[in-house]
Amino acid sequence: MFAKKLTARALIVAALIAGTTVISFAPAPMHAQAAPARAAQATAPARGAQTPTAREMQLRTAVDEAYAKYKGDTKGKNADYIPYLAQVNPNLFGISVVTTDGQVYSVGDINYSFSIQSISKVYSLALAMNELGAATVFQRIGSEPTGRPFNSPSAVVDMPTHTGNPLVNAGAIATVSLIPAKTAAEKWTKILDFYSDAAGEKLTLIDEVYKSEAATNQGNRALAALLLKYERIYADGLESVDVYTKQCSVGVNTKQLGMMAATLANNGKNPLTGKQVIKTENIPHILATMTSAGLYDGSGGWAWSVGLPAKSGVGGGIIAIVPGQGAITVFSPRLDEAGNSVKAQEVISYIATKMNLNLYDTAPDLMK
Ligand code: DON
Repeated sequence: MFAKKLTARALIVAALIAGTTVISFAPAPMHAQAAPARAAQATAPARGAQTPTAREMQLRTAVDEAYAKYKGDTKGKNADYIPYLAQVNPNLFGISVVTTDGQVYSVGDINYSFSIQSISKVYSLALAMNELGAATVFQRIGSEPTGRPFNSPSAVVDMPTHTGNPLVNAGAIATVSLIPAKTAAEKWTKILDFYSDAAGEKLTLIDEVYKSEAATNQGNRALAALLLKYERIYADGLESVDVYTKQCSVGVNTKQLGMMAATLANNGKNPLTGKQVIKTENIPHILATMTSAGLYDGSGGWAWSVGLPAKSGVGGGIIAIVPGQGAITVFSPRLDEAGNSVKAQEVISYIATKMNLNLYDTAPDLMK
């Protein structure tokens, strides 16, 4: 449906003619700090010239239209409770759509490395489930939306499970605490390697983000102390917060994050490397959790209007998954009240509507 039978060469030719969307297969360099406002090249291995299908052209057009339509939108504001994030250029804007057969449609600031923030929670959940099984993770963490802000201490007090779900800060810190490892350092290496496998290339920490957040994360340390009171944290609290802070500070660009997202869409297998990163049987649980809690107290409205499992981060990224077909990844730092990127929501909503991607819609072309 997204672009199941993409014909790369024809799409590149079309993109070059249109001069807009970049379609590529090669990973971008890491941590490029400055990127052109608009990408200008397309590279791909030749696979034989064929005419792109109407659906493929429609997707490329939808990405370009969304970029043009929302580029000038200045609604929302950068997160500022982590000082580093307050000084990120709010006008940065990138879109990458990655299909399960490894095609990448990108536009905008696609080489800028931003912190993954809460989107990391999805992958630490996947790692915990890989190692411990879904039943154990569900029993130790749970999967209930809190209806409260992502960092809410009152949710820890009031929720019967206390942890809530693995995508709010308390549940995410508890999830990190669950991941088996002899030391915190070993756990961090394991997490970073797992994220890198999902991206299909080596990811690294953005040290300035980590330092900035570690100096100001008293709230998360308080959540860990509360979890200890309820016996819902499963390793040293402060060490767990520290590893969690590191995982949130991993740098990704839209293409790298797009590949991580497409790995979820592709039943846990990285579309480029072919490595089975996330156990297939856990994918439905992960996507269900993203549906109910991926955009925090904005999750209900998102499901209502867009109908795709998604996850946001206060760095400005959002991923949305079209199971079996691909993923839409957008980066733009200005956030709404719930901590979700305004432009990213607008872009994903635009593309999903244009392409009939709502999972709850029985439109006939959904399964094509
Ligand atoms: O712990 C925090 O507050 C951040 N490291 C992550 C929060 C976040 O990304 C919420 N997302 N929208």
